[in-house]
Amino acid sequence: MSTVISRKSIDDVINATAIDEVVGDYIALKKRGSNLLGRCPFHDEKTPSFTVSPAKGIYKCFGCGKAGNAVSFLMEHDSLSFSDAIRKLAAKYRIVLEEDNIVNREEYNESQKKRENLLIALDFASKFFIEQMQTEEGKIAGDSYFRERGFTRQTIEEFQLGYSPQSWTALADTAKKNQYNLEYFEAAGLIKKREDGTYFDLFRHRVIFPIHDLTGKVIAFGGRQLVKDDKSPKYLNSPETDVYHKSNVLYGIYQSKKYIKNLNNCFLVEGYTDVTTLHQAEVKNVVASSGTSLTEGQIKLIKRFTDNVTVLYDGDAAGIKASLRGIDLLLEQGLNVRTVSFPEGEDPDSYCKHLGSTEFQNYLKTQEKDFIIFKAELLMQGVGNDPIRKTEVVKNLLTSISLIPDALKRSAYARECSRLMDTDEKLLLVEINKLRKNKSGIDSQVISQEIQEILHTKTDLPAEEVYSGGDEQEMNLVRLLIQSGHKKFMEDATVADFVFKELRADEALKIANPVFQRVIDELTEMIEQNLSFDENYFINHTDSEIRTLAASFLTEKHELSPTWFDNGIMIKTIRENYVHDLQSLFLFLKKNKIEQLIKSNLEEFAKAETDEEKDFCMHYHIQLIGVRNIISEMLGTTIN
Ligand code: UTP
Ligand code: MN
Repeated sequence: MSTVISRKSIDDVINATAIDEVVGDYIALKKRGSNLLGRCPFHDEKTPSFTVSPAKGIYKCFGCGKAGNAVSFLMEHDSLSFSDAIRKLAAKYRIVLEEDNIVNREEYNESQKKRENLLIALDFASKFFIEQMQTEEGKIAGDSYFRERGFTRQTIEEFQLGYSPQSWTALADTAKKNQYNLEYFEAAGLIKKREDGTYFDLFRHRVIFPIHDLTGKVIAFGGRQLVKDDKSPKYLNSPETDVYHKSNVLYGIYQSKKYIKNLNNCFLVEGYTDVTTLHQAEVKNVVASSGTSLTEGQIKLIKRFTDNVTVLYDGDAAGIKASLRGIDLLLEQGLNVRTVSFPEGEDPDSYCKHLGSTEFQNYLKTQEKDFIIFKAELLMQGVGNDPIRKTEVVKNLLTSISLIPDALKRSAYARECSRLMDTDEKLLLVEINKLRKNKSGIDSQVISQEIQEILHTKTDLPAEEVYSGGDEQEMNLVRLLIQSGHKKFMEDATVADFVFKELRADEALKIANPVFQRVIDELTEMIEQNLSFDENYFINHTDSEIRTLAASFLTEKHELSPTWFDNGIMIKTIRENYVHDLQSLFLFLKKNKIEQLIKSNLEEFAKAETDEEKDFCMHYHIQLIGVRNIISEMLGTTIN
C-alpha cells in the first residue's frame, strides 16, 4: 500500500538536510569563501562553475544555469520523484517518515489498489514468460528464435525477454493455480474471458518484449510472432491500461536512461529489436517510439535526460517523409535534433548486424546530420530549379525552423538555410518571424521563459530590490487596463484577459508599485468572477489613490497614448495595432526589468570583494546581456 509523506516529515527532512553533504556525495567540492565550488554534474565543463551555498541551502551552476535545493538536486541527478528524493534524504539523515493518511482516502485507495493489482499481474506474467524460455517448447521456439537473430544471453536477461507458449491457457491456468485474481490479468490485456466464464491467453506462441517504466516495473508487453503469418499482427501489444499510457512511454527507457544522461544524447528508433540490437552493439543510449508517431509525452520523457536527440530512420523514403512531422514536435519542444538514415530496406537493427558494432558506431558518427539540413536535402531531391517547388520547400523548412523556441538558434538556421537554398537570409528571418506571429503571442511566451531562467539563476537577488518603485512601463500597463481593459482584443478575450495571461506566464513581471498592484488584483478578481467593468468603474472607486490614478489617465486626450514607450519608437495608430502593440509593451516592460537587473548586478560587481563574487557577477552579466539582445532583436522585428 502506497502512502503519502506527511508535510511535517517533509519539513523535518528539509531542515535536517545539508546541501553540501548531499551534493558532496556526487561531486568533489572545494571551499571558496562562504560557498563551495565544483564541476557541474549536469553539463560538461573543465573549469568549475557549480556553486553550492550551504547557508542558503541552494546550488546553482553558472555554466548551464541549473539551480535548486537538495531535493531538486536529487530529483534532477537521480531522476527521482519528489517523494522518492525525500525518502532518500530521510534515509541519509535517519529520519523516520510519517506516511500520511490521504485526504480523499477512499478514491485514492480504489485507484491505487487497482494499479497495484495490475502491476502484480504484469509482474507475474513477466516472470512466467521468462520461465517459459527454459521449458522444452520454450527452448525450441523462443530461445532459438532469439539465438537465430543473434541475441546474446546478456541481452535476453537485461531486457527480460520471454516466450509465451502455444497453449491457449498456459498463463491463465498458472495464474489461477497460484490463486491470483484473474480479473486483473484480464484488465492488463493478458487474458480474455470466454462465454462460459473460463479464460484464454492473448499472447500465444510469441517471443515477449516486456515494456518497463522508468523505475523498471513491467507495465506492458509486446509479443512478436515467430513465423510470418498474415492472419495475426507481427507484434501484439498490450492495450492502454491504468498503468500503461502508450503516449508517455518509450521502449528501452529503463535500460537506457543512465546512458542517455551521461552521453547527453538519445538515439530514437522505431522498433523493439532496434533497441536491443543497438544495446548489444554498445550503443546504449537508445529508445523506441514503438512504431507510432512521437507524442509530446514521449518527448518530455526524453527531455528529463537530455536535450539532444538523434533520430535513426528506417531506410525507406515513405517512412521518412511520414515521420518528419514527429520531428517538428521535437524541435518545438526545444530539442536539438540530428538524424541518421540507412540504406533502402535496412533498419538500425539489420544494418547494425550487417556492419558489426565498431563499423556501425562509425557509421552513426559519420552519417549524423542536423535535421534541418537533412530535411532540406531530402525535400530538394528532384526539385531542381523549379522556382515554385523550391519556394514550397523553403516554406516547409521555415515552418520547422519557426518552431524552435530559441531565437539564436533560429537565426543560425536561417543563415544555414539561406546558404543551402541560395536565398536572402534577412528575408528568411522575416518569414520565420511572420510564421511565429501567426501562432499568436508565442514570442512573448518564449521570452518569458528565457527571462525566468535568468531570474531563477540568481536566486539570492531579492525581488523588491530589483523592481522597486515601479516604472513607466508599469504605469503604461495599468493605464491600458483602466482605459481599455474591458475592450475586446481578440476573438473572445478582452485586453485585460490578455494582460493577465501574460502576467501569469511570467513571475518576473511582478508589479512594484502598490497602487498599480491593487488595480491589477481587483481586476483579476473581477475577471475570475466574470464581472464586467468600464472606465467609470475606477473613476468612482472607493480607494482614493485609484480614483486619482484613473482620473488622470482618463483625462488624457488619446485613448492609448503614442507616448507609451519612452524612446518614442512606437508611433502608430494604436487601435489598428492592438495585438502588435500589446506584445511590444510587454517586451518593453521586460526589457526594462532586464536593464534594472543589469544595473544592479553591475553595482554588485563594483562592490564585490572576492574573485569568486566578481566571477558570479561576470557570468550573470553575460547572461543578462544575452537576454537583452534577444529582446532587442525581437523588438527590432516587432516594430515596423
Ligand atoms: P517493424 O515492422 O519495423 O518491426 O515495426 P521491427 O521492430 O523491425 O521488428 P523485427 O526486427 O522485424 O522483429 C517497428 C515497430 O512497430 C511496432 C513494434 O513496436 C515494432 O517494433 N509494431 C510493428 C507493432 O506494434 N505492431 C506490428 O504489427 C508491427
Ligand atoms: Mn527489424
